[in-house]
Amino acid sequence: MSIRSRMIVYYSSVLVVTILVFFATAYLITLAVTGDAKSVKQFYAIHFTLKPLTPEQETLFLDLKYMAKTDPEKLFDPALQKEYDFQLRVAKSALLIRREDRVAFLSPQIADAGLEKSLPPYEMDNIRIRNLLNIGDRFYAYGKYDFALSDATRGSLFVIRELSPFAALTGKLLPLFLSILFVMLVGANVLLYLFVTRRVIRPLHKLRASAARIEEGDLDFRIEPTGSRDEIGQLILQFEHMRRKLQQSVELQLQYEANRKELLSNISHDLKTPVTTIKGYVEGIRDGVPNTPEKMDKYVETIYAKTVAMDRLIDELFLYSKLDLNKVPFELVKLDARRFVDDIVGELRFDLERHGFRIDWHGGQGEPVWVRLDPDKMKRAIANIVDNSVKFADKAEKRLSFALAADSDRVTLEIADNGPGVAPEAIRSVFDRFYRAEPSRNARTGGSGLGLAIAKQIVEGHGGEIALASTPGEGTRVAIKLNTCEA
Ligand SMILES: Nc1ncnc2c1ncn2[C@@H]1O[C@H](COP(=O)(O)OP(=O)(O)OP(=O)(O)O)[C@@H](O)[C@H]1O
Ligand SMILES: [Mg+2]
Repeated sequence: MSIRSRMIVYYSSVLVVTILVFFATAYLITLAVTGDAKSVKQFYAIHFTLKPLTPEQETLFLDLKYMAKTDPEKLFDPALQKEYDFQLRVAKSALLIRREDRVAFLSPQIADAGLEKSLPPYEMDNIRIRNLLNIGDRFYAYGKYDFALSDATRGSLFVIRELSPFAALTGKLLPLFLSILFVMLVGANVLLYLFVTRRVIRPLHKLRASAARIEEGDLDFRIEPTGSRDEIGQLILQFEHMRRKLQQSVELQLQYEANRKELLSNISHDLKTPVTTIKGYVEGIRDGVPNTPEKMDKYVETIYAKTVAMDRLIDELFLYSKLDLNKVPFELVKLDARRFVDDIVGELRFDLERHGFRIDWHGGQGEPVWVRLDPDKMKRAIANIVDNSVKFADKAEKRLSFALAADSDRVTLEIADNGPGVAPEAIRSVFDRFYRAEPSRNARTGGSGLGLAIAKQIVEGHGGEIALASTPGEGTRVAIKLNTCEA
């Protein structure tokens, strides 16, 4: 059964139960209060027993009662009866005075009711002075006072007001009240149903439609949030979150796929070029082209150089792919970054000076800066950066400077040269594998474009960051940032 039909059943049952409970409650209350299931009328009457007269009527009643106590004969004075009758009529009530079994005065407005026959008997202790009585379906509330006259006859004084005829009223209006009640109940249920449908079922439909789109591989849409923080709202948010994650992972997958293709084509190209050269030279030798020992030497030299380049490329590729797959374990040791860089600069100094470089490095002295790193791998990263400075150097006076700066939890090593620099639009890509800024893969600066990619893998493998900044024509600065550790 769908939620929708289930809800219709649910709401209909709630409606039926509500109506049943309403009637049952009405019945039980009547039963409990009146002790008689048949007389709902009595129940209604009891309420009025307590307060039968309005305050004005009550005041007039008390006046008359006082008179009956002090000077009962006066009550039989027609002028006074008239006056009180008038006042009581204004207060929407009537006067009745009885002497023994005879009615001495009866206000004309209720003369037709035949009240005199239903009047309560004398009760000289006046215990029940306020009550109700009904004649047919007409209801009367009254205040009564019984008194004795000087000639020992008994008299009664009644201030009477007619109540709205309950039986007639309910008889007429009850079906209407019940219909209104029923319409209200049905209306409330329908509204509630619509509200719940809007809040629950519609979002669920939307979710189902979205799930179907996702199943078909379409992730390029947005599931609008419902705007509420309830369970359904959260479900929608979570679903949208999942869709975004899925979309990202699919995009990443596609990106990987594109990268893999590019990598393969780059590798093929970079291996094909030296192999073609080697093949050409070997064929030349086979055909006896180098006919002098010098020429032969040149041929062999070229073949050798190409083989070395290929070997290096394969080594780098291998290292890069191992780093990429996280297959090389990092052997971290705690050491002083100053000493470490000092040692590297010491090792490189001879070779760099041989290439005509002037080296700047003053960071060897000072407080130790403790870091945890894999010395061999970090050396490799620094060597790749320095290698570029050497390879691309274009000034007569070549300079290379090393600087170390430490703050509370980070240490930065900056390596700066005064070479040609990198064009701004190329900076973003220099850490990409196989990326080389100058398009012609010329032999002098020839490399695979893996040097900085490897350096980045190594630095990031240490939880650090690497960045390159450059002013074209003036030089390049590469900064390695690493986290420091406790001494
Ligand atoms: N110090 C530098 N001066 C000028 N250009 C640089 C410098 N360092 C890097 N580049 C540019 O960034 C590119 C990428 O450098 P990367 O070290 O990754 O590759 P490569 O040096 O070309 O090849 P490999 O390092 O694999 O031999 C270089 O080709 C070069 O264009
Ligand atoms: Mg390089």
